[in-house]
Amino acid sequence: MIMQSSKVRITISVNGNQRIFSVRQDESLLETLRNASYFSVKSGCDDGTCGVCTVLLNGKPVRSCKIKAVDVDGAEISTLEGLSQNNTLHPIQEAFMQTGAIQCGYCTPAQTLSAKALLDQNAKPTEDEIRQALNGVLCRCTGYVRGVDAVQRAAAMLRGESVKPYTHVELTLPKDISQIKLPEAYYRYDRSRNPLPPLVFTPVEMGETSVVGKPEVKVDAKKLAQGRPVFTDDFRLDGMLYGALLTSPHAHARIQRIDATKARALPGVHAVLTYQDIPRIKYASGGQSYPQPLPYDQVCLDDKVRHVGDRVAIVAAKTAEIAQTASKLIEVDYEILPVVIDPERAMRDGAPMIHDETDTEGIYDGKHNIVHHIEAEAGDVDKAFIEADHIFEGEYRTPKQQHVHLEPHVCITYLDEDDRLVIRTSTQVPFHIRRMVAPLINMPVKKIRVVKPRIGGGFGNKQEMILEDLCAHLTLATGRPVRMEYTRTQEFTSSRSRHANIIRYKVGVKGEEVTAASLYLIGDTGAYGSHALTVNMVGGFKGLTLYNPPNIRFLSDVVYTNTPPAGAFRGYGAMQCQFGIEVLMEEIAEKLGLNVVQFKRNNWLKVGEPMHLSKQLGEGREGTEQTLLTSGMAQCVDIGLQATDFEKKRQEYRVQNGRYRKGIGIAIVMHGSGIADLDMAAATLKMNDDGSFNLLIGATDLGTGSDTILAQIAAEVLGIPLDDVIVYSSDTDFTPFDKGAYASSTTYISGGAVQKAALMIKELILKHAARMLGISETSNLKLAKRQVNATDGRSVTLAEIALSSLHQQNQHQIMATASHTSPLSPPPTAAQFAEIMVDTETGSISVERLLMVVDCGRVINPLTAAGQVEGGMAQALGFTLTEEMLFEPDGQPVNPNLMKYHVPRAAEMPALDVIFVQTDEPSGPFGAKSVAEISIDGVAPAVASAIHDATSVWMRELPYTPKRVMSALHRSE
Ligand code: FES
Repeated sequence: MIMQSSKVRITISVNGNQRIFSVRQDESLLETLRNASYFSVKSGCDDGTCGVCTVLLNGKPVRSCKIKAVDVDGAEISTLEGLSQNNTLHPIQEAFMQTGAIQCGYCTPAQTLSAKALLDQNAKPTEDEIRQALNGVLCRCTGYVRGVDAVQRAAAMLRGESVKPYTHVELTLPKDISQIKLPEAYYRYDRSRNPLPPLVFTPVEMGETSVVGKPEVKVDAKKLAQGRPVFTDDFRLDGMLYGALLTSPHAHARIQRIDATKARALPGVHAVLTYQDIPRIKYASGGQSYPQPLPYDQVCLDDKVRHVGDRVAIVAAKTAEIAQTASKLIEVDYEILPVVIDPERAMRDGAPMIHDETDTEGIYDGKHNIVHHIEAEAGDVDKAFIEADHIFEGEYRTPKQQHVHLEPHVCITYLDEDDRLVIRTSTQVPFHIRRMVAPLINMPVKKIRVVKPRIGGGFGNKQEMILEDLCAHLTLATGRPVRMEYTRTQEFTSSRSRHANIIRYKVGVKGEEVTAASLYLIGDTGAYGSHALTVNMVGGFKGLTLYNPPNIRFLSDVVYTNTPPAGAFRGYGAMQCQFGIEVLMEEIAEKLGLNVVQFKRNNWLKVGEPMHLSKQLGEGREGTEQTLLTSGMAQCVDIGLQATDFEKKRQEYRVQNGRYRKGIGIAIVMHGSGIADLDMAAATLKMNDDGSFNLLIGATDLGTGSDTILAQIAAEVLGIPLDDVIVYSSDTDFTPFDKGAYASSTTYISGGAVQKAALMIKELILKHAARMLGISETSNLKLAKRQVNATDGRSVTLAEIALSSLHQQNQHQIMATASHTSPLSPPPTAAQFAEIMVDTETGSISVERLLMVVDCGRVINPLTAAGQVEGGMAQALGFTLTEEMLFEPDGQPVNPNLMKYHVPRAAEMPALDVIFVQTDEPSGPFGAKSVAEISIDGVAPAVASAIHDATSVWMRELPYTPKRVMSALHRSE
């Protein structure tokens, strides 16, 4: 080791190459490797808990963020870059691709290296050994099922065994569900059983397809498997500065004095901006269609702070360390104000007024911190309650949950050679960001370009403008490229979260029929109301439409508190409200002595029925009248009952009285597919000389596989294999508009646009082929297998058509752009089953199996769709058992890091099984609905149902921590 002023020279062998690095004494190995462009090594937390920075140190997995570079002088380090030689993938990488183990791909390098270390030592690991090996690396997308599968396949390949192509299991759906026989493994879930591939039931009448419905490998899988530099932060610009955000240490305070003199004087600092330096322009941070719902209750930097973690000042400096040091030199005097963190208290007379500024319009009742009051009603609810045989009421509570996407919010801004501002950012909504940033930085939209690279997960949190405006301000102040990234703590304190809800239902029952229902919903939106209106509207609509009685009432107060703002999060109000109604429906069945499944079956929303509140409860505006066109709910329930042997287990579990008690639970759920009459997507297809196509889409693949399924839709229409479609998404300069990835809209709305564009292209191809063949009618031509065939036996290939159209006859570019909206938002439906064990002495709940049987219309890609369902169930498991953002009475966060906030790991996961029951939704592309969000909706009520089955106790407040379970058990005694 050689000392060089404050730096130290070290030599490390990286992937077999001797490298000399000049490092600081305190520099982490992670920093050294990323500075040296080993971009497969990721950063995801501040304390070594997430594991995405894992590399191999002398063959052993270590967290590179916890190791100082100076301490590994002379060691051998392996990163993912070293695994695939000459672009030939290692079997582990191959297996991760084939099994669908890669979603966003942010954790993939660390998981792959962890698997490599395991397989180097153990050629035939058990499932538990694999889970232990992967346990150090958090994955928030997948549920770990396919990762386990991938390692098993890779192990077999490395042992020289032949391995069959990975695929789903296809079965025909008979009219009589009792005739169904599942493969034997789906009837059990013991730990020795390997993860099962998804099962797909197809009705006999459903048309055949050749690319749609196939388990195609994701189009971005290879580059993600190799850890290539595809994320926002894997990009460096000359002269780039590092931004830092100074946040509030107080939950409610006014800034009396702010002085940045010392910070500005620090060598290496290029800009420090406070509220005194930025025009006060009001906005809402939620990325939604124009015009965004009021209120616009934020400004980029304010003279008041409303939660711990609120924005105070920003710094741009030569290095990240200097920026951090400078932010600490900013002197701020605060006038501390009273704090309220409880939404019910916040509504009382005399509560601290969180938004007392005079320039925010659209707050319903600022004195009581009520940002929105929502009312909607159908039928005659009061009369129906009077006439009901029984009235039941229940109050349910759900927690504030953090998204914990492994890639933090990160953004790089710079001015290009034409002085246009480029924003390279990890966002779900590039087009909304462009429109929203423009007024805040006083730049026209035409001078701004937003580029979305690969995204390391979002789940709704990147449907918000979190860093883009701040980063842009710093670039405009300095004229230099600027990079800003949240720390993991800032993700908890300064990004968004799920709304915590208090859910009060009242249900009237006549005979066995639900005749009336009302819901009063209190939504805690935290300090700002970016998605306050829409999340709670969706909650009311989905919570009341699941059973859709003719007399129905929704009331909601959405309330400010001095906690970090809530925003969009997968499930978006529906999962909270469906939790409440599902538990109450089972409570009612128990009290009336009814079979719960039959009671639900009698009352759930059926095909042909109008959804009573669909017009009143659009998303932030009036919606459309909607009727349910397709539903596989009955089949989903019946198949799940059979796969779990539900009724038999319910009988058996009634007679338990030991310490450990088993339980089985069921919940039904439904969601939506996009926002009716509001969401719009466009797609462009362009033919190349060789008969391949560029698909340009503004749709935003945040790891879900949407690039792949959209390409499958295009390929199906055009009669070509998937790899003839080259997908590019999303760049506001080069791709057509898309509202972005949210509201379960991509397959349905963006897929609709792709299907339309492909049909237009098909028509152009047939016309040109007819000209080439001297045929007048295109109806005599068929497009399939990369060529156009005439009925007389002649044919021309797509490559010949492309060359002819570009260079020879009637020269023109074969291309088309199509836009799509829908007056409908067809609900996918599903049945969720949970099998659990309760330890009645500790209150701990062990979830042993989660099975979801899902009708999402036509399954465009069984692998990516199953990945969505598994990942949704995993996130829902955290919501159900462990995840809750907690605050002290003064608003200080209790658990703003991954050590204290517990996200499920690989070794903690139950068996996760997925069965699809396809329906043919007439309004969707090839019959598709959505799958991304319904997957998260059912676990909590199914576990509640199972806990009651095991213990006879109803648990009405999430999450089900051992403490809550014990106190519920004691209360019941
Ligand atoms: Fe694991 Fe996204 S695929 S975090």
